[in-house]
Amino acid sequence: MNPSDPRPALRPRRSSISRRAALALALGLSVVGCGKHEPKKSAAPDSGAGGRQALRVGFAQIGAESDWRRANTQSIRDEAAARGVDLVFVDAQGSQANQIRAIRSFIAQGVDVIAFAPVVETGFEPVLREVKEAGIPVILTDREVEVSDPSLYATFIGADFVAEGRAAAEWLAGATSGQAGIAQLEGTPGAAPAIDRRAGFEEAIAAHPAMHIIKSQSGEFTRAKGREVMESFLNSPEGPRITAVYAHNDDMALGAIQAIEAAGKKPGVDILVVSIDGVKAAFQAMTEGSLNCTVECNPLLGPALFDAAEALAAGKTIERRIVTPARVFTGASSAAELPNRRY
Ligand code: AHR
Repeated sequence: MNPSDPRPALRPRRSSISRRAALALALGLSVVGCGKHEPKKSAAPDSGAGGRQALRVGFAQIGAESDWRRANTQSIRDEAAARGVDLVFVDAQGSQANQIRAIRSFIAQGVDVIAFAPVVETGFEPVLREVKEAGIPVILTDREVEVSDPSLYATFIGADFVAEGRAAAEWLAGATSGQAGIAQLEGTPGAAPAIDRRAGFEEAIAAHPAMHIIKSQSGEFTRAKGREVMESFLNSPEGPRITAVYAHNDDMALGAIQAIEAAGKKPGVDILVVSIDGVKAAFQAMTEGSLNCTVECNPLLGPALFDAAEALAAGKTIERRIVTPARVFTGASSAAELPNRRY
């Protein structure tokens, strides 16, 4: 498998719904089995292309808070266009309420599949029950939700955030011989990557008694907030003891680098910086020496998303968890990789 392509092999399973089966027949796809999930809504509108119905997918995106997110949106839009999928795209502008409203509007429009990257982990159960009641399959991309009923979504496609946090900690432990005063820039409160990246990192540094998180606060996954929070860390009484920054994404790390420079210190040397995502700007910072390490989290989820949506529409069952691969890049490996970065 190409490491930059997160698409898994899809495995046929037993269940299907009659609406999906009708859609599958319209798409000229074979239908595997039939299930008990009875749809309530009518079929998707005709695309007009050769009389076939286009697959209609509603996608509720979190927003445009980071380079990663923008690459994720582009991948979804590009892949939908390449496959002739009728994509109903909503940008929730960082608001869970907007995302829930978008999901309800997808139900009302009778889309074939609903997908979304949840802003936060909790609070989606009621709307997901409404989606289930409408007989529409749900795909989670990037982030997971916490629900008591696992049948409320068909699959979750995304990275292992706990493993990413662990990888960042292990790199830092190696680079500092297990001795660091760490400033942590957390993601959006309540978001799966903020919770899991913190958990994975803390679990791994627990093996190193001289590694301590001395400051920790949310920078909301944005560059501006990362800079602002890092400035306040450096000006705090603990500021002089900070020897490393762990940021839950590259954007916050890049903001922290600006704050370190403004404070007259050398990022990457006086204060080591490690983050997660692997966006192009992070590779540029690594080649310049201001960022030391990034753990890759692949945002190019469009192909895997629409593979899953098409399979569900065809009445096939897919893997419940589709994990995208990750790699760790450091200053040393960044120059060779920079020309290959697609986001
Ligand atoms: O959920 C993935 C995270 O969300 C990315 O690390 C971050 O950049 C984005 O905003």
